[in-house]
Amino acid sequence: MGGFNVSEKPLDFLRGFTVDFDLKTGMSKMVDTGKRYLSQMKGMFADEAAFDALLAKGDALVYEFHSMPVPEHEGDLAFGCSIVYPGKVGGEYFMTKGHFHTILDTAEGYYCLGGSGYMLLENEAGDYSAHELAPGQAVYVPKDYAHRSVNTSATEKLVTFFVFRADAGHDYGTIESKGYRRLVVERNGKPEVIDNPKWK
Ligand code: NI
Repeated sequence: MGGFNVSEKPLDFLRGFTVDFDLKTGMSKMVDTGKRYLSQMKGMFADEAAFDALLAKGDALVYEFHSMPVPEHEGDLAFGCSIVYPGKVGGEYFMTKGHFHTILDTAEGYYCLGGSGYMLLENEAGDYSAHELAPGQAVYVPKDYAHRSVNTSATEKLVTFFVFRADAGHDYGTIESKGYRRLVVERNGKPEVIDNPKWK
């Protein structure tokens, strides 16, 4: 008889599943949504006075991410979407906090679905690169590199899909305490990568 024989279990990591990441109608109830507001980004932007002034005007949504509870097993893959909203703190564009993977020896793929910006990569030895993100472009984040999405559009959301080894884990603490070595800022109306004066 056949039939499609699709599991009725919503997130069937053993038999496969489909999950709705339709950004027009909102995310599927199957995925977890996390939101990061400006007040949760204290210390992440270089210009603290500009940060305080912007926060005084309201607690803007900086980014959100949508993922699912995946078994943390090295043979599984975790995927999701992230959305970075347009905005700036001083000259520095809105961005994600950025992270290393707890298991450093794990890479990640990002595919840009909408908007425009950069994927800022850096490793502990100080090598860095800023890869343009535009709809249809994918970025390979190599193992050992911290990664951060930066939205350089004044009006559009930066939307990306990502996939990584399910047990990779997220280390936010290193970036929270040391910062990024480089920043993406607006100079003369254009994005530019500069040294972070506050990097520790
Ligand atoms: Ni990652």
